[in-house]
Amino acid sequence: MNVVEIIKKKRDGGKLSSDEMKFIIDGYVKGIVPEYQIAAFLMATFFRGMTKDETAEFTRLMLHSGDVIDLSSIPGIKVDKHSTGGVGDKISLPLAPIVAACGVPVPMISGRGLGHTGGTLDKLEAIPGFNTNITIEEYKKVISEIGLVMIGQTKEIAPADKKMYALRDVTSTVECIPLIAGSIMSKKLAEGIDALVLDVKTGRGAFMQTYEQSVELAQALVGIGTSFGKETIGFITDMNQPLGYAIGNWIETAESVECLRGNGPSDVMELTYVLGGAMVMLGRKANTVNEGIERCKEVVQNGKAFEKFLALVERQGGETAYLLHPDRYPRSVFQKEITASDDGFISSIDSLELGLSVIALGGGRTKVDDIIDPKAGILLKKKAGDRVKRGEVVAEYFTDRSDIVDAIKTRIAGAFSIKASKPDTSPLVISVVDKNGVTPFRY
Ligand code: URA
Repeated sequence: MNVVEIIKKKRDGGKLSSDEMKFIIDGYVKGIVPEYQIAAFLMATFFRGMTKDETAEFTRLMLHSGDVIDLSSIPGIKVDKHSTGGVGDKISLPLAPIVAACGVPVPMISGRGLGHTGGTLDKLEAIPGFNTNITIEEYKKVISEIGLVMIGQTKEIAPADKKMYALRDVTSTVECIPLIAGSIMSKKLAEGIDALVLDVKTGRGAFMQTYEQSVELAQALVGIGTSFGKETIGFITDMNQPLGYAIGNWIETAESVECLRGNGPSDVMELTYVLGGAMVMLGRKANTVNEGIERCKEVVQNGKAFEKFLALVERQGGETAYLLHPDRYPRSVFQKEITASDDGFISSIDSLELGLSVIALGGGRTKVDDIIDPKAGILLKKKAGDRVKRGEVVAEYFTDRSDIVDAIKTRIAGAFSIKASKPDTSPLVISVVDKNGVTPFRY
């Protein structure tokens, strides 16, 4: 088989056979097909897409590029959650220990920052010492001891996604339904789950900016999960403004600790409880999502969720002292303020612009091997709907980069729109997608 011919077929809108996709994926993992040809394949797929069958086969091949972990010896229904990516989306950090504290085992394999969105692994690694790169043997031990484990893709688990994810990030080929579906579902199906909850973002800060595209992505993900025999539920959730107040690896981890202590921002708490409620229901520790939400609230209030997170961090080598005393964490060289340009109400906060600004501050990557500065970020002081006075601080930003510290100010300030009247609010959790179809979400 000839890689150039396969790329050409996809470039011209053809449907690839299983053998052709296997040739590309296996060749890439083994280092036989070079990165520049994979980049061309990704761009051709970006423009031409894949059929439903092709996407399912692509996912299966990505999944079998490595080992599929067997967690059947661990009691309980193993449930995970995955987000399609957002700005300020730290939900996995409070969510996983909350659900584990409810008695549902959570094996979680996450990704790094992708495009303008943050990644769970980078947030966990902001905790000094936290090791996201452990062996499968160790992964099994941690989940059996703690009821929870949080790692990244390895050479053994979904290695095709590990390589392709990083390449998509720097070749502008992220926002593509078959590539997102293959990426998410290959690593989720490899980790040993029985059921899965998906948080499919929609809006300005999401990879899918329209509601219709987000539903299409959710249906593709749910369809693949269901066809692999895993009960899968997707929620379409709003990503028109960042989640919570913190955007940046360490400050998001610190905000997650606030959530685990029950003091997190209302939007982060709401989404955590809804997704947690669904996970607890899928794990058969509640009969309905609402009952699951109540279980999640209990373990936050009685401190068991935070204890679970501390146990996990300690077990995976992280220093819990910074979680107990976040003020001891090192500070950025530069800490600057953004002020309101007018009196009025914040009508919108452009999460895409803020996500891109955090990368420029040092909190994300523009090249595969960029080193992240965990301290870099933006801390909102106001959210959409809040009243502001001209000159009032709407955000602070943190960086060590002297070359951009002043230039970035206009970009961050430009993300805030102010209007005279209070904007209408839209729901955070919009609808649910499962094997029965799409329904509006109601508590
Ligand atoms: N999350 C993933 O793991 N992969 C994607 O492609 C997008 C979000």
